Amino acid sequence: MAILKPVILRSLQRSLRSLGGERAPVLAGHKLLYRCNLECKMCPFWRREDELLLGLADEIRIMESLAAAGVSFLGFEGGEPLLRADVGAILREAHRRFHTSLVTNGWLLAHRLREIAPHLDLLFVSIDGIGERHDRLRGIQRSFERAVDGMRASRSQVPTVISHTVTRENLDQSEQVVELAERLGVGLTLQIAYDYRTADPMSPDRAALRPVIERLRELRRSGAPILESVEYFDAILGSWYGGRPWRCKPWLTINIDPAGRIVLPCYVLQEYRGTEPVWTVDLRKLWNQYDWARFEACNRCALACYLEPSLFRWTDLASLRDRVVDGAIHYMERTPRTSRRRPTPSG
Ligand SMILES: C[S@@+](CC[C@H](N)C(=O)[O-])C[C@H]1O[C@@H](n2cnc3c(N)ncnc32)[C@H](O)[C@@H]1O
Ligand code: SF4
Ligand code: SF4
Repeated sequence: MAILKPVILRSLQRSLRSLGGERAPVLAGHKLLYRCNLECKMCPFWRREDELLLGLADEIRIMESLAAAGVSFLGFEGGEPLLRADVGAILREAHRRFHTSLVTNGWLLAHRLREIAPHLDLLFVSIDGIGERHDRLRGIQRSFERAVDGMRASRSQVPTVISHTVTRENLDQSEQVVELAERLGVGLTLQIAYDYRTADPMSPDRAALRPVIERLRELRRSGAPILESVEYFDAILGSWYGGRPWRCKPWLTINIDPAGRIVLPCYVLQEYRGTEPVWTVDLRKLWNQYDWARFEACNRCALACYLEPSLFRWTDLASLRDRVVDGAIHYMERTPRTSRRRPTPSG
């Protein structure tokens, strides 16, 4: 795993600044487009008609602004990022500045792998069920097969992680998806679907979700390759079932829409509607003037990109390394790039 020096430096600087009470984003998510080649029930993005794309020069302007504000981790998503012809060039620029990741539905993965793999620290591939269940949720036949074929190709070239979104229609399959990750020798990260106004309502029933969260926590404890911490599961259980809210710190994660605009305070509440282009804004000033306190007790979502960082103690460098860096790569230590665990015949 190439942890870039500027990334570590920014982490140190941020820790020092946060000691003085200053706020700065740590993680960034950026949608490269809304367009997609699949039609997932729970997803609003492929339905949107307001896409405005930027060229490489503006993408670099975004990166410069984020790096200057203290961002260390930049994740690309969409829509389907591999539909962009220039995704390799964008990732190359990003990897010079950040720890990089990308999330894809996997349909084009095997074809685009050579362009993207050298510039990625982590690759997420969405899997929402096994076989036909995944295809039904994703709206296109053979999407499961193509995503799995993509992971078989990618796992030897870039640390690969299944991104599994739990919905009301696949609650019974989470454990099988964890087993798939184990067979393939990849990691797994979770999303719990929330209901966007412009997508099909697919969030799971809370009572039915509880045993699934408890079981996933147990699997995580017993060494399944799940990226989320045990504390992540504890926070969900405490908040949604125990009346003990976790304190959301949406300022730790910044999101940028395809036109380069900042999405405030978080993309759940704004359904990814951006305001001003990030390069026109003094981010440090905005971050330290914005009224974030209103959202502390929100607890509406359980998105790992907001919940996990909210649980960290950012002034504790040991904790930063343990939970951000080692947490993201713990499974890779068991399956290093050059000598990966041999997959089983069905993996
Ligand atoms: C919006 S997609 C973009 C990247 C790519 N097209 C993909 O599907 O991986 C990013 C992630 O968001 C998840 N997602 C989609 N709709 C969601 C919802 N309503 N709630 C939570 N996660 C959702 C997807 O399953 C996917 O893992
Ligand atoms: S979740 Fe990803 S693959 Fe599915 S429609 Fe949305 S953007 Fe496309
Ligand atoms: S808990 Fe609320 S404020 Fe925090 S990220 Fe989720 S929706 Fe946004």
